[in-house]
Amino acid sequence: MSSFTAFDRIPRERLPALLAAMPKAELHLHIEGSLEPELIFALAQRNGVALPYASVEALRAAYAFTDLQSFLDIYYAGASVLLKEQDFFDMAWAYLQRAAADNVLHAEIFFDPQTHTARGVPLLAVIQGLEHACRRAHQELGVSAKLILCFLRHLSEDEAMATLDEALPHKHHFIGVGLDSSERGHPPEKFARVFAKARAAGLHLVAHAGEEGPPEYVKSALDVLHVERIDHGVRSLEDPALVRRLAAEGMALTVCPLSNVKLRVFDTMAQHNLPALLAAGLKATINSDDPAYFGGYVNRNFVETFAALPQLGAREAYALARNSFEASFADAAAKARWIAALDRAFEEAAV
Ligand code: HPA
Ligand code: ZN
Repeated sequence: MSSFTAFDRIPRERLPALLAAMPKAELHLHIEGSLEPELIFALAQRNGVALPYASVEALRAAYAFTDLQSFLDIYYAGASVLLKEQDFFDMAWAYLQRAAADNVLHAEIFFDPQTHTARGVPLLAVIQGLEHACRRAHQELGVSAKLILCFLRHLSEDEAMATLDEALPHKHHFIGVGLDSSERGHPPEKFARVFAKARAAGLHLVAHAGEEGPPEYVKSALDVLHVERIDHGVRSLEDPALVRRLAAEGMALTVCPLSNVKLRVFDTMAQHNLPALLAAGLKATINSDDPAYFGGYVNRNFVETFAALPQLGAREAYALARNSFEASFADAAAKARWIAALDRAFEEAAV
């Protein structure tokens, strides 16, 4: 596979434009976290749902988070306006247009069915609305888009199992399962049986671990759930043996820098450990997590991260974008095509 190496031919002042223009994959994006306040209000009106906020501005003003839970409370309130298949389509289509504008060639999109089925929304309305947007994105935007069904870890394993059982007849509409919501006190092993069943069904496996939770949760996601990627995983750095293992296994971490700063995993972007993760040989990627809540989509994550961390240059930009394709669940031919496009973008930026 071809590979760009002339990083010293890319001056630092070209980095912001290159970060935006380079092709990339997004592997950690909660579709409910792409719901912009304007769309929340439009859907609330369309569906006759009362919101505890008087205006778009009042809702935005509430986006002052102190930790993961303070965010999740508002995130689940925002998702309460989603009732119909059309609502799920509109939300995903809005995200996919923004992703295309950020030169995302491939997106693996998380969705939280339990947030909706608990309100009486049929699972199929969720899946079909999202899937319709993914199909249209492929046809009209040239963006490859796939779905990953996430279980809410603050709920019981039995509830996750019931969700999996209901979803399995429709598994041609999603490529894998994940684990999200409140991490502390809900270790991966709580969902061992659910992930074993998803694995037996041939689904890909990922889990949030090591965002707020300890490095032990990253280990049990690997050893008990057998995940193929770790979502976040930034706290892995506290355990040198785990870092060596992640590097040796080529295990990808889907890092979300703006999310980490907004949820106070790091106090400032300048303190983010992404440079250390890359220097340790870890297969890190940059993603937006919940872009409507955390201040930006994937390109904004790249630009703000690189602006705050002078250790990050063209070499790291290339590595992050390349990692995003390599760590995706796409086939080898698609990965090779996307990496060739990445190489071309870097050749064009080199002087
Ligand atoms: N962590 C856990 N659960 C989530 C997140 C996150 O960053 N975003 C949406 N659900
Ligand atoms: Zn997340």
